[in-house]
Amino acid sequence: MTPIIQAMSRVELQQAVEEARRAWQTAEASVEDEASLEALRIRFLGKKGVVTALMTRLRDLSPEERAEAGRMLNALKTEVTEGLEARRAALMETASRDREAKERYDFTLPGTWRPIGRLHPLTRVRLEIEDVFQRLGFVVATGPEAESDYYNFEALNMPADHPARDEWDSFYLGEGRLLRTHTSPVQIRVMRSQQPPVRIICPGKCYRRDNPDATHSPVFYQVELLWVEQGLTLANLKWVISEFVSSFFGPEYEMRFAADYFPFTEPSAQVHIRKVGREAPARHLGGWLEIMGAGMVDPAVLAGVGYDPEEVTGFAFGLGVERMAMLRWGIEDIRSFYENHPRFLAQF
Ligand code: PHE
Repeated sequence: MTPIIQAMSRVELQQAVEEARRAWQTAEASVEDEASLEALRIRFLGKKGVVTALMTRLRDLSPEERAEAGRMLNALKTEVTEGLEARRAALMETASRDREAKERYDFTLPGTWRPIGRLHPLTRVRLEIEDVFQRLGFVVATGPEAESDYYNFEALNMPADHPARDEWDSFYLGEGRLLRTHTSPVQIRVMRSQQPPVRIICPGKCYRRDNPDATHSPVFYQVELLWVEQGLTLANLKWVISEFVSSFFGPEYEMRFAADYFPFTEPSAQVHIRKVGREAPARHLGGWLEIMGAGMVDPAVLAGVGYDPEEVTGFAFGLGVERMAMLRWGIEDIRSFYENHPRFLAQF
């Protein structure tokens, strides 16, 4: 719009105001951002703006004309001022809506996946077994993995040339020391250090000279139990084990004792479990699965630690943690536990 410099008549000023209003209305519609809005403000209301220039022309008019023209100009100025204000508010509104849309959290999107550690299945099973027996009043006892011949064999009724030692072939460290083949030596250590009653479970790592295959590992975990007190019988042993079977495997399992032999127990048994109603061919023990060795502590073992076998009796059992885990989850190869493949571990 060209600046108005010459003197103006009332009609000319009126026309100029109308023209300015139309120009404003066209320009206003095309405002898109803060910058174009500011340009528009300067163009109409700035020091050299259209409205300002027209204001200075008021002086060309007579006082009567000036009053009317002044109202017209003021009306235009108000229209422009309010229009700019409305535009500015609209721009800010859009901007904040955009920002909000950008910043809003969408809680339905998949999150950042971070792998979470968990207990190894063998640790889980061991803790669960410990828990069952701790609730029955047994205390966890542990001992060294490198043992003496005395604790691992002799005190358990297996003198140096006892043929039963073949069952527990070990790794020998020299000077009469070896890696323990079971956690039974812990039982001897505890009995030697205290008087009856003894109620302990002995979890821990054991070693045997077995070649690794689907069911054998030279290193494995056991939990053994020992209860020595006055008046204990096989019936108590059976009760303790049946408590364990129903807690660990579930009430739908039945159990039975089958005769076995261990040098440190008399009588000795192996314990079988079976899902009630699950019959299988006889060659598979009729569906029975062996879960542990057990028996009444041999009086010679009790006497060996200084207890009076006429006074107290005891019972013990030993189970393999891996075997319990394999039965629980249907795992077919014991080596899966030691390979520690994340895809295997993630299942537990
Ligand atoms: N110590 C035996 C083993 O390792 C298990 C067992 C413990 C058997 C207690 C009977 C009583 O094979």
